[in-house]
Amino acid sequence: MKHVVLVGMMGVGKSTIGRLVAEKLQRPFVDSDVLVEQAEGKPISEIFADRGEAYFRQCELETIRKIVNDSAPVVLSIGGGAFISPVVRFLLKETATTFYLQAKVETLVQRVGSGATRPLLTQGANGQVPLEERLRTLLQEREPIYTQANYIIETEELTAAQAAEAITGYRSVFV
Ligand code: S3P
Repeated sequence: MKHVVLVGMMGVGKSTIGRLVAEKLQRPFVDSDVLVEQAEGKPISEIFADRGEAYFRQCELETIRKIVNDSAPVVLSIGGGAFISPVVRFLLKETATTFYLQAKVETLVQRVGSGATRPLLTQGANGQVPLEERLRTLLQEREPIYTQANYIIETEELTAAQAAEAITGYRSVFV
């Protein structure tokens, strides 16, 4: 059995959909952002502010490594930048079936709200760049990497429940 891992941009709905998938598969749901926050004892925005992005990425990598190597099969939602790391992709290739949840920038803008909890959208120079532009740039940079996931789920026309259904439809691949 393999882990089921949800990949994609901030705001696409990885956690909401992941919870539904976990319920359906009767597996634990794990969110790498939440585990990093618990380990560090502070929100991601503060980790970025106090220690910088590189430190956050290291914590994220170690968190993901631990889950995929040590735990029974889970449904794991990873932070939007995690899959960009070749080391994370290598770890997941061995241990997981990965799903890229895809949505248009216009939809992401609506779903992220103010973006206030997401430092990549608000801190430093990014604070001056309009949210939509920042998301568009990130998506353009990341899309070629996200599409290396095993499967792509186009979420645009789907409710969270329908997206979860689409993922569990691949059950024979990861069970
Ligand atoms: C990030 C996405 C966030 C979080 C951090 C960086 C990114 O997670 O890991 O703010 O680089 O896209 P979500 O995708 O769960 O919002």
